[in-house]
Amino acid sequence: MNALREIMRHVPSSVVVITALYDGVPIGMTVGSFTSASLHPPLVSFFAGKSSTTWPLIETAGRFCVNVLAARQPQIATAFAARKTDRFTGQAWVPSPLGSPLLEGVLAWLDCELHAVHEVGDHLAVAGLVHDAHASGNARPLVFFRGELAALS
Ligand SMILES: Cc1cc2nc3c(=O)[nH]c(=O)nc-3n(C[C@H](O)[C@H](O)[C@H](O)COP(=O)(O)O)c2cc1C
Repeated sequence: MNALREIMRHVPSSVVVITALYDGVPIGMTVGSFTSASLHPPLVSFFAGKSSTTWPLIETAGRFCVNVLAARQPQIATAFAARKTDRFTGQAWVPSPLGSPLLEGVLAWLDCELHAVHEVGDHLAVAGLVHDAHASGNARPLVFFRGELAALS
């Protein structure tokens, strides 16, 4: 529905990269639908498109890291949404406590175990159980608003 798409352009969203290790290979995808879902137990959530080729690999890994991008990292958001490229080329990372890729310089990260997946229309609602999380200092976030990656001003 194009009207819904047009209206949702006016709703700002956070920009995160969901990463995982699949057969020892780092994988990841940019996601704008990330939110917290529950405090007890600690659950976070995002929506993965049913046509995503990366999501099934993350699901198989059974764990993922949510990398919250800082305002100075729009190129990472673009790189991890691109098709048919090695999204990790030139991207520094270290293993999270659960072993998923933790990207260098992110504003915050949440290390998750896959908790639940539910069908919601043409997307899958994914819930992750947070095992560990960290926010670094006072860097500004990257937001997606009216089709553009931008800093808060
Ligand atoms: C700002 C932004 C937000 C996005 N949000 C989502 C999202 O919430 N869920 C999703 O499945 N894809 C989202 N995408 C698209 C994915 O990053 C990716 O392009 C898509 O999953 C196709 O790649 P794949 O086949 O490797 O999954 C977003 C892309 C951008 C640039």
